[in-house]
Amino acid sequence: MRSSPPSVLPHQIKQSIPHQLPMQSLSPSLSLHTHLRLPESGQFPANPTTIPAKCIRKWKSQVISAVAAPPAPKKTTAHSMPPEKAEVFKSLEGWAKQSVLPLLKPVDQCWQPQDFLPDPALSKGSFMEEVAALRARTAELPDDYFVVLVGDMITEEALPTYQTMINTLDGVRDETGASSSPWAVWTRAWTAEENRHGDLLNKYLYLSGRVDMQMVERTVQYLIGSGMDPGTENNPYLGFVYTSFQERATFISHGNTARMAKERGDHLLARICGSIAADEKRHENAYAKIVEKLLQVDPTDAILAIEDMMRKKITMPAHLMHDGRDPRLFDHFSAVAQRLGVYTANDYADIVEFLVGRWKLDKLEGLNGSARRAQDYVCGLAPRIRKLQERAEERVRQAEPRRVRFSWINNKEITL
Ligand SMILES: [Fe+2]
Ligand SMILES: [Fe+2]
Repeated sequence: MRSSPPSVLPHQIKQSIPHQLPMQSLSPSLSLHTHLRLPESGQFPANPTTIPAKCIRKWKSQVISAVAAPPAPKKTTAHSMPPEKAEVFKSLEGWAKQSVLPLLKPVDQCWQPQDFLPDPALSKGSFMEEVAALRARTAELPDDYFVVLVGDMITEEALPTYQTMINTLDGVRDETGASSSPWAVWTRAWTAEENRHGDLLNKYLYLSGRVDMQMVERTVQYLIGSGMDPGTENNPYLGFVYTSFQERATFISHGNTARMAKERGDHLLARICGSIAADEKRHENAYAKIVEKLLQVDPTDAILAIEDMMRKKITMPAHLMHDGRDPRLFDHFSAVAQRLGVYTANDYADIVEFLVGRWKLDKLEGLNGSARRAQDYVCGLAPRIRKLQERAEERVRQAEPRRVRFSWINNKEITL
């Protein structure tokens, strides 16, 4: 699906006709593009350079919303950390054991999905009563909320991809599958904690009866098969900047779905999303701590890594999402998340700002020329994103709202 027309077209247009159709790419997860509406056929011409100017003008006038778009294909760089730098991570093993591993929770102190779900050990009548109560609560939630919750659940369910991604990183990967290196211990236990998220959301959504589980499951299978391309180049400096950002993004997103469930009266779902958000926060803290340590022991390469990831823009882990029907499913899901305020371009800017403050990047000293320039770029980034976001929002306000069908909710139409 990475080669599907919608994945490449905005980029191709950007390159081929920039003077006619300026595209603004803001954020990653929500790279705010001024979007084109697909022709009714859903297919773009094979060669975008042949698109008549008239069509371009027409599409431009149909700008629909500030929504997420798959990122432009990245240049593929592999193993960008010099091999000798693996020593940095070797030398930090004692520190990681003392300072990172304690951020994991012992299994017997962790919540489990079953804590929130109807208990199958109950009598048949009591079990059915619990299921009926769950369905009565979720009946009060709107369809667009389910689109976002399903998208979040599918993102969580693609966990094999994320463990694989972390194990691409030189110097910290799990070399055997059961390595005793604290980096590997962390990654396995982190995965085990994360595994509860998709599991719980999946079961809750299944019992709600509000979604087409077959289409949801198909999307999960497509997504795991597609993988992801975060641009981390097997480089743990880049990898841990990416995970710091992503864990905070999921903390924000699950926190917002919790708040909305509470507002609509599903207090149990609010507790579910809140408990997941709390895990994400703990994970964010661990990854941000690792980057903080790298900034202490190797400030130049650490700030250059932060700059690199920010320039590339942080890609949402589920950016290659597909259901076999909607060729722009990820864009559409992200547009709904943006409209509901579950995860927005402003959140992206907030995360950048938060991490700059958390890592005290403006206070870094003793940097060389390129590292100082990286520092300036990163420290000034959030206001620039906000400015672009304001312009994108203005365009959205002026545009006609658009409705799209989601297979996940039985092909019901949702406003983007
Ligand atoms: Fe998660
Ligand atoms: Fe997470």
